[in-house]
Amino acid sequence: MRVLVVGSGGREHALCWSLGASPLCKALYCAPGNAGIADAAICVPISADDIDGLIKFSKDEKIDFVVVGPEAPLVAGLVDKLKNAGIKSFGPSAKAAQLEGSKGFMKDLLQRHNIPTAWYRRFKDPMTAKAFISDKGAPIVVKADGLAGGKGVILCTSVEDAHTAVDTMMAEKAFGDAGNEIVIEEFLEGEEASFFAIVDGECAIPLATAQDHKAVGEGDTGPNTGGMGAYSPAPIIDAKMQERIMNEIILPTVSGMALEGYPFTGVLFAGLMINKGNPKILEFNVRFGDPECQVLLARLKSDLLPALIAATDSQLNNFDLRWYDDAAITIVMAADGYPSNPKKGTMIEGLIDAAKVENVTVFHAGTKTEDRDGKITILANGGRVLGITATGKTVTEAQKQAYRAVDAISWPGGFCRRDIGWRAIERENTR
Ligand code: AMP
Ligand code: GLY
Repeated sequence: MRVLVVGSGGREHALCWSLGASPLCKALYCAPGNAGIADAAICVPISADDIDGLIKFSKDEKIDFVVVGPEAPLVAGLVDKLKNAGIKSFGPSAKAAQLEGSKGFMKDLLQRHNIPTAWYRRFKDPMTAKAFISDKGAPIVVKADGLAGGKGVILCTSVEDAHTAVDTMMAEKAFGDAGNEIVIEEFLEGEEASFFAIVDGECAIPLATAQDHKAVGEGDTGPNTGGMGAYSPAPIIDAKMQERIMNEIILPTVSGMALEGYPFTGVLFAGLMINKGNPKILEFNVRFGDPECQVLLARLKSDLLPALIAATDSQLNNFDLRWYDDAAITIVMAADGYPSNPKKGTMIEGLIDAAKVENVTVFHAGTKTEDRDGKITILANGGRVLGITATGKTVTEAQKQAYRAVDAISWPGGFCRRDIGWRAIERENTR
């Protein structure tokens, strides 16, 4: 089978690493990929947003199966267009991808199917949004309706802040057209966790659980990022909680989507807030998380490729996935200045030594190679640059190995958090 992975982050490196190990995979391409992916797949210089380019390449190269990493091409209809061109691909249709592409669509669906979530209202007019905020009081949450690269959520501790957030989105257009419509919602307290399932339109199989660290700074402080690290499993989700999440959130969403005429196929990634043992949905994503994908795939024992094909072919019924009991952790190394202004072009050394640390895999995100006086060097080429992933019997053990590998890397232009996994490690220490 000839497989194409779309994307260029750490998630796509992990996908290529997993898919390339499948005996079913005879040729593996990645568009556009990165310096690390080039070791696992043939990278082709087509951007993840170049829908026509991806379709032409898939036809020309007789690709049998496309796995789409990021949300933007899914929301833009890549899967539908590949299907029209006769090419099978893993991921939701544009309509089903609205679960991530429009927060208002997602909240309305949850409401229609009584799925637990924060109360909310949708607004197209800033004055009525502000009046609603004044009426409800703070804390309150203001969200841009559309895709905003994970930045379109503003948690407001005062009514004034929330009014400012409305102006930031609707008048100043900080998130472009994504903020033409907004959702105002209840501020939820509790502990966050991510839950993943693969879905074939009708059936859903739970994958492993994970928790990520969104804030840039240690102690979960500072501005939010795409994720500075993650670990799996999430200790807050035990078997009983998993069953509740499946029954109260995932399955009603999957059947609701099917009932309304846009069945969901792909990875359903639920961002949850769990308070006093009750899970509520904060958001849905329609793809693997990054860096959550790296920790999930590090723990997956089964061959990933047949699972993704089964989801695409509506054959997940009775499909079984096996997992290692070991925990996994990913430490993200980012370029100085991330998230607001990451510095590109700095040199990274020591990656070979890092990869030699036992139980460690180095996934690349924003990297590129350059020939410097005949020597191939790796340079930073984005915000999040590396995802150092390790496994161990416990999160504590995995964390130790991961930081050992981090310390083998010499990169004066980058940084990482030193406390990834702290919640799970605290729990392990009090066991
Ligand atoms: P989202 O992109 O919707 O996941 O939001 C980004 C982050 O904002 C989440 O991971 C939460 O930490 C936080 N968040 C989103 N919605 C809420 C909410 N209703 N209450 C409290 N925190 C929230
Ligand atoms: N790590 C969060 C995300 O992929 O959306």
